[in-house]
Amino acid sequence: MRKWILIAVITAALITLLDAEENKAEIQKGIKMPYMAFPMKKGEGMYSTKGKCNMCHSWGYILNQGAQSKAFWRKKVIKMIDIFQAPIKNEDINEVVEYLYKNYGNGKEN
Ligand code: HEC
Repeated sequence: MRKWILIAVITAALITLLDAEENKAEIQKGIKMPYMAFPMKKGEGMYSTKGKCNMCHSWGYILNQGAQSKAFWRKKVIKMIDIFQAPIKNEDINEVVEYLYKNYGNGKEN
């Protein structure tokens, strides 16, 4: 009976030791985070747009739309406000739409 207890204790100690070794290895290796860069194009209205759009989703998510018309971007911004309650004031809509269109537009108004 005693023998079994001893074996159990030794096993537990070994497991703890092995775990500690593993953790150390992880720390030494370092954790690699995938770096996903979706830098916004620099331009007038960039910071304002970033502040208004990036609070809910990433910039990449927005850019997945591809180059779009001014009307498209206006509709999206208004959708964000109407449907998702994006805190964007009416007087700021134009600035955001202009930024999106100028930097991610397809050259078409409609
Ligand atoms: C209050 C939160 C919020 C803000 C702020 C916000 N969005 Fe969104 N947006 C959402 C949600 C929620 C979705 C839908 C996500 C889904 O369907 O998975 C979305 C989806 C989108 C899409 C994907 C296409 C679509 O029609 O669903 C685009 C493009 C987009 N947003 C653009 C913008 C832009 C540009 C801004 C800044 C003017 C903005 N969003 C700000 C919440 C927000």
